[in-house]
Amino acid sequence: MEALVEKINNYKVEIEKEVATTVDAVEAFRIKYLGTKGLLKSVMGEMKNVPNENKKEFGQVLNDFKLFVEEKYNTLKSALEEQDDATDNFDWSLPGDPIPVGSRHPLSLVREKIIATFSQLGFAIAEGPEIEDDWHNFGAMNLPEDHPARDMQDTFYVQQNPTWLLRTHTSSVQARIMETQKPPIRVICPGRVYRNETISARAHCFFHQVEGLYIDENVSFADLKQTLYFFVQEMFGKDVKVRFRPSYFPFTEPSAEMDISCLICEGDGCNVCKHTGWVEILGSGMVHPNVLENFGIDSNKYTGFAFGMGVERICQLKYRVNDLRLYSQNDVRFLKQFTSVL
Ligand code: PHE
Repeated sequence: MEALVEKINNYKVEIEKEVATTVDAVEAFRIKYLGTKGLLKSVMGEMKNVPNENKKEFGQVLNDFKLFVEEKYNTLKSALEEQDDATDNFDWSLPGDPIPVGSRHPLSLVREKIIATFSQLGFAIAEGPEIEDDWHNFGAMNLPEDHPARDMQDTFYVQQNPTWLLRTHTSSVQARIMETQKPPIRVICPGRVYRNETISARAHCFFHQVEGLYIDENVSFADLKQTLYFFVQEMFGKDVKVRFRPSYFPFTEPSAEMDISCLICEGDGCNVCKHTGWVEILGSGMVHPNVLENFGIDSNKYTGFAFGMGVERICQLKYRVNDLRLYSQNDVRFLKQFTSVL
């Protein structure tokens, strides 16, 4: 009797390990264990060999075993049915789960538009490193050490190596272009720039620029004006007016800042234009002869113009974004409002 019980326990261990993932396999399980010639039947047949006084106890063991096999069979069968349901009852006509589609960042849209506009005029696109050396960012741009104009661009220096800094303007890319290319040069330099400013609605420690450089024989201030006038008309429409105000940049001479008529109040006066009817959008000028000579470009033969604008500012006027911080907060409610500037 004890030997029989042990045998049954061993069967249980084996049966527990059985797997059946197809209809045929489940049916084979049934035949093997529960069929008329199956294991259960033959184990039941052992009853006759058990002494009378043990029959009751053994009957109990047999009954447990039968329940065990049946339960295992039912588990295998229902697992298979569930699997069938998953494939057979799937409604292939149901609409798919919507995939959220992102949109371009407003600064990217505006940058692309600026690039497309200057591309039409034959400007190539140049990029350069955001970590720069002093020479490309300042020195070559006619801003020697201790020049007070450096204060216009409060700079982040790299602690491990103070001769490195985060570029304060993409003029550094223009420097790299003049270093490696001969005139005629006609490039725009889009990219991120850094200045050590307290973050507020109107200032941030980083922003985006597109600067431009055109060097050839006989390039004049008239070319500068016409190029920038074309640009603002493409960006803001034909009705926009422009004006140039004399200004100072160490790398250009003469220098001018360009204003456009305020698009928000159409010249009547509002907060954006500080009630003047005009908003400043970029700095520009004729490339200083020192800058040309720094790169071995003969300033008697060649002249050039340069300009630089902040993408955030153009975007502010284009989309009426009144707080610079919105651009970098990653708030989807803000970001999803922009589709195209075209
Ligand atoms: N580099 C200037 C700035 O970042 C902009 C500029 C570029 C002005 C070229 C004049 C000519 O402020």
